Amino acid sequence: MHTPVFEKEVIEALRIQEGKKYIDCTAGEGGHMFSIAYRGGNVLGIDADEDQISNLELRIKSSELKSRIILKQGNFAELERIAKENKFFPVDGILVDLGLSMRQLTDSGKGFSFKNEEEILDMRLDGEGKSASDLLMSLNKESLFDLFARNSEELSSEVIAESIVRFRIGRKIEKVGDLIRAIDYGLTQSTQSERKEKVYMRIFQALRIEVNKEFENVQKLLESSKEILVRGGRLVVITFHSREDRIVKMFAQDNKNYFTHMRLNTKSERSFERSAHVRVLEKI
Ligand SMILES: C[S@@+](CC[C@H](N)C(=O)[O-])C[C@H]1O[C@@H](n2cnc3c(N)ncnc32)[C@H](O)[C@@H]1O
Repeated sequence: MHTPVFEKEVIEALRIQEGKKYIDCTAGEGGHMFSIAYRGGNVLGIDADEDQISNLELRIKSSELKSRIILKQGNFAELERIAKENKFFPVDGILVDLGLSMRQLTDSGKGFSFKNEEEILDMRLDGEGKSASDLLMSLNKESLFDLFARNSEELSSEVIAESIVRFRIGRKIEKVGDLIRAIDYGLTQSTQSERKEKVYMRIFQALRIEVNKEFENVQKLLESSKEILVRGGRLVVITFHSREDRIVKMFAQDNKNYFTHMRLNTKSERSFERSAHVRVLEKI
């Protein structure tokens, strides 16, 4: 079960009021979404991953909060359309909790984690576009380097791009284990296993970001929130990646006519919250 990040702080920041409308753009395993409904808010829960939505549908069937929740599979890059279609326009609050839930990492079968060596390297949340394996097999060395450097800031990006291109001669990179071996090709024998795991993590994350166009989607979502929120309505964004946090910060700085902006204090003893940033934008 996914434990919601900074649940208390996020729910407080959204200032939930009975009967008002809220959109959870990343419903995931429902932690934040159920909290909003429990406090009397009506919620439109969106997730790009169909499995997340069907699991939530099963859970709300038997929940007393059922009448306050609508679920839709979709990409938050198209938030304005989804909000209008479901009559959640305008709304009093929008929540975005970026990244993946625990279940997607461990059980989705889509190759998000370097620990599941037999999984196919798909990584598409909504099954659209090119898979991670497609990118690894088709991009040239410069484009792979650019992808890793841009999305992960991994220092060995160039070496790894080169080792992937060498590894794939006469071989496919289809499964998680193939990518691990291709990365190992570029790391020296003496690289410590702890350091190796950090490299795997960054390279897997960089691929996931590219496959799902994560930075572009966040930018689109931020833009659309200007129209969707009522005056005084709040947008709460939780990020785990420094570049994503920068996107939100820059957006807030560039849109001082639309929003006031504050950053929540995110000091935490809990390991899954340590790298989180939470920003709250209030429409003026
Ligand atoms: C960290 S989880 C959210 C967890 C949720 N707050 C909870 O309490 O269970 C992030 C979710 O966002 C979804 N997601 C990622 N990118 C998305 C996008 N562009 N549009 C819609 N959902 C997206 C993922 O499928 C995942 O379920």
